[in-house]
Amino acid sequence: MSNSEFVLRGEGISKSYESEQGEARLEVLKDVSIDIQKGSITSIVGSSGSGKSTLLHILGGLDKPDSGSVFWGDKLISSMNSDQLADFRNENIGFVFQFHHLLPEFTALENVAMPALIAGESLEKASERAMSLLERFGVANRKNHRPTQLSGGEQQRVSMARALMNNPPLILADEPTGNLDDKNTTTILDMLFELREQEGVTILLITHEKAIAKQSDIILEIKNGELSSL
Ligand SMILES: Nc1ncnc2c1ncn2[C@@H]1O[C@H](COP(=O)(O)OP(=O)(O)O)[C@@H](O)[C@H]1O
Ligand SMILES: [Mg+2]
Repeated sequence: MSNSEFVLRGEGISKSYESEQGEARLEVLKDVSIDIQKGSITSIVGSSGSGKSTLLHILGGLDKPDSGSVFWGDKLISSMNSDQLADFRNENIGFVFQFHHLLPEFTALENVAMPALIAGESLEKASERAMSLLERFGVANRKNHRPTQLSGGEQQRVSMARALMNNPPLILADEPTGNLDDKNTTTILDMLFELREQEGVTILLITHEKAIAKQSDIILEIKNGELSSL
């Protein structure tokens, strides 16, 4: 891989949305380029509606840019079809969202095991690893709870466990603590930062709070559709 120092690279990404009738299109991202380096923690800050989630979704293969490219190493992921993208995401990216996105009809353990089951892992092996991840994040005793029976902090711990289930080299976190109190915010962020220390996981973190961003290696700001270093 000639670009091995970069896990993920976005080149010239533009994205706009239809506006109210008669108004100009909403240009959310204008020719944005970004390199996420292996083992780094990159934070993206910006006011609400500035395009942070849009960028993260495009980089993570959840959405397509209008123009521009997204590379994973040498692989062009922005041209993959939806089946290829689903496999790619399942194998390589752990997502953590502001709102947990856990499946309501499944238990914590089942939610965590799901990515491995989708990847074809046996139920026994997947459950074993899911259990050890729940233990790691201090919620093993909630394994049979459904998401609505968990507190916000517990939901995010379960989400972190799920994100790590397939051992992804990259975590994309979209305001993972946006909905939590100070204590849970600190815990979840410590857990994220620990992942890089202990396992060399690369992390792209979207956050509202500049204080959080300061703990990361690289801070980028989105403003008026453009990305710049802080
Ligand atoms: N599917 C969509 N259709 C129309 N407008 C959208 C859509 N998704 C996002 N937007 C708009 O694009 C802008 C950026 O959204 P988003 O990336 O979610 O911002 P952020 O995550 O920084 O708060 C917002 O003004 C939002 O309303
Ligand atoms: Mg957002």
